Amino acid sequence: MRVDVALVPAAGRGTRMRPATNAIPKALLTVVDRPSIQWVVEEAARAGVTEVVVVVDPDGGAIIERHFEESRFLPGLSGVKVRTVVQEEARGLGHAVLAGREAIGLRPFFVMLADDLIHPQEDLLGPLTRAADPDTSVVYVRRLPDEMMGAKGVVVPRSGPSDSVMEIGGAVEKPGAARAPSDYAIHGRYLFMPEVFDHLPGIAPGYGGEIQLTDAVDSLARAGRCRAYVADVELLDVGNPLGYLRANTVLGLADPAYREGYRSIVDDLLVE
Ligand code: G1P
Repeated sequence: MRVDVALVPAAGRGTRMRPATNAIPKALLTVVDRPSIQWVVEEAARAGVTEVVVVVDPDGGAIIERHFEESRFLPGLSGVKVRTVVQEEARGLGHAVLAGREAIGLRPFFVMLADDLIHPQEDLLGPLTRAADPDTSVVYVRRLPDEMMGAKGVVVPRSGPSDSVMEIGGAVEKPGAARAPSDYAIHGRYLFMPEVFDHLPGIAPGYGGEIQLTDAVDSLARAGRCRAYVADVELLDVGNPLGYLRANTVLGLADPAYREGYRSIVDDLLVE
């Protein structure tokens, strides 16, 4: 299967990153030397994606579009076209994905959460595509400790993982340790078949009163149309100040252009 389109929900107001996000969309905050969303679009481009649909809120769209218009000749972005779709109201991640329905059409597509950055040497989109059987949706899951079960979607396994692929029978949004059906937590990379757009419109508000993407995963899984790809690849959460600092450090130290200079800054500071 070829996947040539990705949807990036980036309509969040960035409340955990105030005051940095008072005027600037969270997706445009700089990580190392480029806006965080550019890392995500470059990751999509590395996987062969040629079109990225960014779901924006009514205020943030124009400036995000302008960034990619000005940056279209950068090497990591050549060959990928970025367009925006407006989510009029903040009604949850499932609702944001549904806003991209017309732009995606009848194509399989990745969903890439803009808060979650990946180390460029650990790409997941290729493995996600290979895990589809041959045309099921796939969610990326990683085992997490009990205390994280209130912060993620968690899948219901139907089989143990074999070759990193696990059949799933459902998914629950942020169940907490006591209710968690497993310790396999959904992380911010998904591959959906267009049939997800048949499931999403029927999803009622769930956790937090929002339309949850995890509930659409649950609906697909119950119909035998979703599996999980299991790996231990960390995604760097830039949606809170400490995660943001960590992402800058991990990606800064990994970047050949800054590695040495940055390392000596960090070493000096740690010695003091
Ligand atoms: C969202 C999803 C959740 C998923 C998580 C991955 O939650 O709702 O299912 O596990 O992303 O990071 P959020 O982090 O936006 O609260």
